Amino acid sequence: MATAKHHSSPCFLFLFSLILFQFHLGKCDLQPNYYSQSCPQAEAIIKREVTNLYHKHGNTAVSWVRNLFHDCMVKSCDASLLLETVNGITSEKTSGRSFGMRNFKYVQTIKAALELECPLQVSCADVVALSARDGIVMLGGPHIEMKTGRRDSRESHTTVVEDSIPNHNDSISLVLSRFQSIGLDVEGVVALLGAHSVGRVHCVNLVHRLYPTVDPTLDPNYAEYLKGRCPTPTPEPNAVLYARNDRETPMILDNMYYKNLLGQKGLLIVDAQLVSDPTTAPFVQKFADDNDYFFEQFAKAVLLLSENNPLTGDQGEIRKDCRYVNSI
Ligand code: HEM
Ligand SMILES: *[C@@H]1O[C@H](CO)[C@@H](O)[C@H](O)[C@H]1NC(C)=O
Repeated sequence: MATAKHHSSPCFLFLFSLILFQFHLGKCDLQPNYYSQSCPQAEAIIKREVTNLYHKHGNTAVSWVRNLFHDCMVKSCDASLLLETVNGITSEKTSGRSFGMRNFKYVQTIKAALELECPLQVSCADVVALSARDGIVMLGGPHIEMKTGRRDSRESHTTVVEDSIPNHNDSISLVLSRFQSIGLDVEGVVALLGAHSVGRVHCVNLVHRLYPTVDPTLDPNYAEYLKGRCPTPTPEPNAVLYARNDRETPMILDNMYYKNLLGQKGLLIVDAQLVSDPTTAPFVQKFADDNDYFFEQFAKAVLLLSENNPLTGDQGEIRKDCRYVNSI
């Protein structure tokens, strides 16, 4: 029944006509409400699960936002991020760039709710995208209309993670060029990094700005606060000690991040550079001055990230368990 319904989707008809014309490409565009026939409740189920998880563990919403970045930035929004190391696949999560990522186990909670309603219909890649969208709303950010129809990869892209996702101390020019390759301009990059308005940073990513001498671009009072949070120059890599990205409203996605940057309170080097570099600084000022304008640009940037090079049509697959490719 579900299959018959699925076959009436516009993408299938489009593919079918391509087959008739003997040039089957197997690729379709993402569509608004792709699951309207095959799983009409899909978007409502994801929103319900994201909301429940937020009320049980608020930090899950933060994780869905970071997941979107780490999945979509690496080659494609294809849920490759979620694959575990098994059967010749090396998980992208083993990369140093994934340090501190959390709450992966709750992706299963969302996916299980979808499987209960409509088995093998809704991709993990769309779970990544829509959970980020709904997480942003839970954090007080803007609502973003997102298309669906992404499909899941059958491989991880671990070898290119470090070429795609910048390090916390990379130069602004490298950061801009990485994002430019997915179509984001300078203003879009400054807007997207507003995601660092929420969440945490472990001391290992900070201490080099505090010891042996305090980075002169850091506000001295803020540096004292950070030294209190991270009292040793050599924290254990997995030490749970961390500082909030934005001390005032660490669980609210708003333009406080940019106000902090103007006050020399950027946590990571990539954050601090946005205000010290003349190409990015004007946008920091604009976003600090106008939260609505920040939301508009943030929504645009997140949408663009969420549509990076998806697998569609008959590419990839719909994984049953987001951690493993389906067996053949
Ligand atoms: C130049 C680009 C970026 C770099 C170098 C970077 C780096 C980092 C680092 C080092 C952390 C802290 C990890 C830890 O110590 O636990 C972090 C946290 C975070 N990042 Fe980024 N990031 C970048 C861009 C983004 C983007 C584009 C987004 C989303 C749109 C994002 C979302 C987040 C979130 C939500 C957290 C907090 C996670 C948590 O509290 O669990 N980041 N990032
Ligand atoms: C950036 O940080 C990493 C550790 O996260 C370190 O190995 C590397 O040397 C640093 N690079 C620079 C240019 O400071």
